[in-house]
Amino acid sequence: MKSYIQHGTISVLEHSIRVAETSLKIGKFLKDLGFSINLKDLVRGALLHDYFLYDWHKKEDWHKWHGFHHADTALKNASRDFELTEIEKEIIRCHMFPLNITKIPKVMEAWIVTMADKYCSTVETLAMRNKKERVDNKSNLKAQES
Ligand SMILES: [Fe+2]
Ligand SMILES: [Fe+2]
Repeated sequence: MKSYIQHGTISVLEHSIRVAETSLKIGKFLKDLGFSINLKDLVRGALLHDYFLYDWHKKEDWHKWHGFHHADTALKNASRDFELTEIEKEIIRCHMFPLNITKIPKVMEAWIVTMADKYCSTVETLAMRNKKERVDNKSNLKAQES
């Protein structure tokens, strides 16, 4: 997960840790409100939600529908390498809802990771764009000065 990039310069591992931290914050908040949330499953599922283990930026036929299929690949890999609870499986399987429209999360923990994943992906993508704009602006200024 460390070797593969998710967005910009952020590895899949860093992204997954962020999603797990954000999910934990939401999970604790909801638990304090009285909801039944399994925090251990929530964090483990979040850490493994993108355990697809390939470079999705490479143009290769077998993963050209990455957005639609990587949740299944992550679940297959995670089931092979770890002993998963039903909640953890559900988190990984459904994290691409609503893109994967038929995989509606059935447990609260999966809803939390789905939302945390969208939030973190948006922040990471915007940060990447801002960074690129800053670099472009710097290059333009240097070009104008010379
Ligand atoms: Fe994903
Ligand atoms: Fe993700």
